[in-house]
Amino acid sequence: MRYARAPGHSTRLHEVAMLRVPVNMIEPGMVLARPIPVPSDPRRFLLQRDHEIPLDLVPRLRDLGIVEVWVRHRDLEFLEDLIDEGLSDCQREVYASVRSNFESIMQETTAQLDVGRFQSSIGGLFDYLKKTVHGNVLLHKLDAFDNYLMSHSANVGYLSLLLGMQLERYLIDERSAKSPRDAKDLTVLGVGCLLHDVGKMRIPSEVLNKPERLTDEEMAIVKQHPVYGYEMVKGRVPASAAQIVLNHHQRFNGEGYPPRVDPDTGELLPPLAGKQIPVFSRIATVVDIYDAATTARCYSGAKQPVQVLHEMRTWCEGFFDPVVADAFYRLVPPFPIGQVVGLSDGSEAAVVDFNPNRPTRPKLQGLKDPKGQRLEDPSLHEIDLALHLDLQITTVNGTDIRPYLASLETPILPETSYALL
Ligand SMILES: [Fe+2]
Ligand SMILES: [Fe+2]
Repeated sequence: MRYARAPGHSTRLHEVAMLRVPVNMIEPGMVLARPIPVPSDPRRFLLQRDHEIPLDLVPRLRDLGIVEVWVRHRDLEFLEDLIDEGLSDCQREVYASVRSNFESIMQETTAQLDVGRFQSSIGGLFDYLKKTVHGNVLLHKLDAFDNYLMSHSANVGYLSLLLGMQLERYLIDERSAKSPRDAKDLTVLGVGCLLHDVGKMRIPSEVLNKPERLTDEEMAIVKQHPVYGYEMVKGRVPASAAQIVLNHHQRFNGEGYPPRVDPDTGELLPPLAGKQIPVFSRIATVVDIYDAATTARCYSGAKQPVQVLHEMRTWCEGFFDPVVADAFYRLVPPFPIGQVVGLSDGSEAAVVDFNPNRPTRPKLQGLKDPKGQRLEDPSLHEIDLALHLDLQITTVNGTDIRPYLASLETPILPETSYALL
């Protein structure tokens, strides 16, 4: 074992059976596996890793809007090897750039965007991602920050870079007016995605943060945010980034908003559809919907990735460029690494790897046998579900997820996808 366990380490950690623990489930003796960042400046830390979490810190964490922390779990310590703190540092810098920019916009109506800071932070993240291989996308999504709009913006930026990197060949084809080198430069994609919802800062907070269902009038106000955002960024960021802000709710099948208006005559134009929509906007649409649905909001809890991916493949039929969607489903696992799942034989296991060809059949490590008894040496109980067709995942956090499985196994593209080229 690589880490000494703190005195009084709770055996109930096993009951929690997660590496990520909601703040309200923190128990005496739990030891941090990752530092807890200060929400207003995630480059600083409230508590460092390897420290036992003092229980009197819990109310403060709640007040600061911290939702989850990462704790050690004796059967899952191997997962820590997958966590890349260098990558997390880059993302904290991105978050800090979003936060300082958005705060200055909120405080002064005349504040200008500090585009240079956006560019350098997202450029730093892109350079880091290019140098390292990251198969564990969801382990590195920022979460537990206090402001939905800011953490969502930073996460959409991060996911857009990862998805864009899967699509280099496609970007060279789709952006053929540019040199191949410029066509696959994702800094502009990242900047546009960080800013995609900046127009929401012009929406009254009582509408934006309303916990109940919005009226038709309120919904019409919210739907103004791409146009407001476009007005805020136009001329200050590259045109392709501004297009992301304007078009991130425009769907591949022509649905979506805002309506397209002729700038000279004010007449309504037919909506953009298919490949008329710039490819960076087609990427932003996919990652935006995914991140919004997997993050808790004032009016809804966070959904599990498996449910969101199912809904994207069913309810959102026609919304996405199939090439982009195919690459996304190969990138984002329905069962994130580290998640604990229940199996059809009644046993319990942790997800340890993702199989893009069989997304619902990842590699697992057993934790409890079908009678609920903890397995003495979990490393002896590795299960590749792609080879054990008699078994399937049935529950996540006690919820029956079987209705979501069939849609996730249907290929999007019959031919070899761009993501594999
Ligand atoms: Fe939006
Ligand atoms: Fe968004």
